[in-house]
Amino acid sequence: MNPTNSAACEISRRGVLATGVGTAAGALVAGAAPSANAQQATMAMAPPSPAGPTAIPTVAVELKINGRRHDLRLDPRTTLLDTLREHVHLTGTKKGCDHGQCGACTVLVDGRRELSCLTLAVGLAGREVTTIEGVAGPDGALHPMQQAFIDHDAFQCGYCTPGQILSAIGCVREGQAGSLDAIRESMSGNLCRCAAYPNIVAAIVQAAPRMET
Ligand code: FES
Ligand code: FES
Repeated sequence: MNPTNSAACEISRRGVLATGVGTAAGALVAGAAPSANAQQATMAMAPPSPAGPTAIPTVAVELKINGRRHDLRLDPRTTLLDTLREHVHLTGTKKGCDHGQCGACTVLVDGRRELSCLTLAVGLAGREVTTIEGVAGPDGALHPMQQAFIDHDAFQCGYCTPGQILSAIGCVREGQAGSLDAIRESMSGNLCRCAAYPNIVAAIVQAAPRMET
């Protein structure tokens, strides 16, 4: 580009910019509404409310977990999963999706399977919650389902395993382990990213007759 054309082009750009600035300044002077960006900047600079954040009231909750009573104070919106992990410090129950889609958080409530990420703790007063920490015998002897998972290599990374074992125990207790297809169907809510599914089914077949139902 020759220098003459370049200078003309530059003047032209400056002229456009100057016109734009002048227009914007004129609009502000004339009291026109500020742009959305200007409003956001104003909001960002606003001082915090002197009242501060509103405190969330807690409620007293008595839970029975693995045969032991726990007296807690919880935000009523607290899920059973967060209660177990963050308030009772039983971290064996895993958080996978937190949306009821993976089964990693499965526990037993009164002997039946529940997704603890979709269950509010405040609704469980008087119910018996069993987690993976509570399935072994009082002498430490493994539950038949735990032993079967070991015998059949039914896990790799192990992240889904507590939920798988609780769900497998529930599957047998609910009378849904009568065939391989029934087991697969009954366990279909428990995902395993390591794809240990054949081994998990084999473990359930072994453990089912050894479990007291
Ligand atoms: Fe509850 Fe995935 S964490 S179903
Ligand atoms: Fe890794 Fe199931 S053993 S996700």
